[in-house]
Amino acid sequence: MSVKFNYKTLEDIKKDCLQNNINISFSEDLSVLSKNLEINGRMVPNRFVIQPMEGFDSNDHGAPGELTFRRYKRYARGGAGLIWFEATAVQADGRTNPHQVILNKKTESSFSELVKITKETARGEFGDNHEPFCVLQITHSGRFSQSDGFRKPLIVVHDPVFDKVVGIDESYSVLTDKELNQIQNNFVEAAKLAYIAGFDAVDVKSCHKYLISELLGARNRSGKYGGSYENRTRFLKEIIERIREEAPELIIGVRLNIFDAVNTENSWGVNQGVKGEAAKVDLTEPKRLVKELQELGLAILNTSASTPYYHSHITRPYNQPVNKGYEQPEHPLKGIERLFMLAEDMQQEFPKLPVVGSGYSWLKQFGGAAAAANIMAGRHTLAGFGRQAFAYPYFARDLMEKGKLDPKKCCTACSKCSQLMIWGSKTGCVVRDADLYANVYKEASAVSKNR
Ligand SMILES: Cc1cc2nc3c(=O)[nH]c(=O)nc-3n(C[C@H](O)[C@H](O)[C@H](O)COP(=O)(O)O)c2cc1C
Ligand code: SF4
Repeated sequence: MSVKFNYKTLEDIKKDCLQNNINISFSEDLSVLSKNLEINGRMVPNRFVIQPMEGFDSNDHGAPGELTFRRYKRYARGGAGLIWFEATAVQADGRTNPHQVILNKKTESSFSELVKITKETARGEFGDNHEPFCVLQITHSGRFSQSDGFRKPLIVVHDPVFDKVVGIDESYSVLTDKELNQIQNNFVEAAKLAYIAGFDAVDVKSCHKYLISELLGARNRSGKYGGSYENRTRFLKEIIERIREEAPELIIGVRLNIFDAVNTENSWGVNQGVKGEAAKVDLTEPKRLVKELQELGLAILNTSASTPYYHSHITRPYNQPVNKGYEQPEHPLKGIERLFMLAEDMQQEFPKLPVVGSGYSWLKQFGGAAAAANIMAGRHTLAGFGRQAFAYPYFARDLMEKGKLDPKKCCTACSKCSQLMIWGSKTGCVVRDADLYANVYKEASAVSKNR
């Protein structure tokens, strides 16, 4: 199915939802989006979240580079109340790109500068009462590691579907428990450094089938981190327990795959039903985990699903696929409805936990109206915008100050930023930030043809 965004008015998109039996609501009253929120004693000035989006523009040591600073200053000027900083590796071999940022003792001072400048820029723009809540996502890319620009999967379990995705077979080695314990140490170390650098919170990334996300489903792994539910969730829980002990003031968040969306033996949030059938949602384990994480101190949950390396349309509904990618197999609004429903299920189970909803960018100028409706109805607490923030970093400000977005500045869900990632390039919005990224795209495309 190849449905492209083609709505001029809110009525047009509402009508399409109705015709396709899609349950997404919109509100013209946007006032709820400007309401502040307290998380563990810290104030989030409004309900807009910039979702984590890697730019792959670190310097050679993994410290934030010039374009990284540019990106976060733009976000700060855009007024979102919560900035969820991009996936930051806890060790060099766990990066997906040689220019992914890394947090370690050598780079900590640059991160400190980055947080300081982000907060100062926001206060300079909106006054002392507006300081964005800053979360750092810390990660290990596991199966999708490409730290030197070439695939070097670091897997925790063999899986018939995901082994094919990264081109390995059963003879390929699996990380041992001892190696995992070393990675755990690096997560805890990175969290402590994030606290020193001035972040309000840290997100122990558990989505998109990267290392921790893969462990959550690792039924076919033996030893203390695989097999039973208790074993599969042990790695994440141990990290969180240690962060609580070693950096007690640091607020803890998790971006969690609520649904892996693949019917395979090592999937998470999936009904392990009949082989070969489409994956069905089963939230028994994700709900159990979030309950246990809350008991360990989890203070904010960001939601996502699937992995961009396999069923990318589920993570980020699009109009055009990446090169050699596949056309949207469903109406993109269906995908957005799914993401909203996953967040809603978690929010209803945990009414007091701030839950971030995902999947807003395809909605272009109507994303604000959907966010307002979702938050008003208690479907989630905060609304997360990913590609829209690349394209239109001032979207939150325009929604709060003008009550609308300029369609000409919105993300077109063209997948070019994802294409840049696939080519191993730095990335940003090729369409709306073209002065910078159109040339980057041209060059990366030429390099890829000569490979
Ligand atoms: C270029 C690019 C980089 C991304 N980087 C991250 C990341 O660092 N961490 C993460 O959890 N998700 C990442 N994502 C996923 C987004 O945060 C978001 O979940 C997804 O794009 C769907 O939201 P949207 O429709 O608002 O774009 C990335 C997506 C894109 C397109
Ligand atoms: S390149 Fe820009 S317009 Fe295209 S999907 Fe990415 S952010 Fe959106």
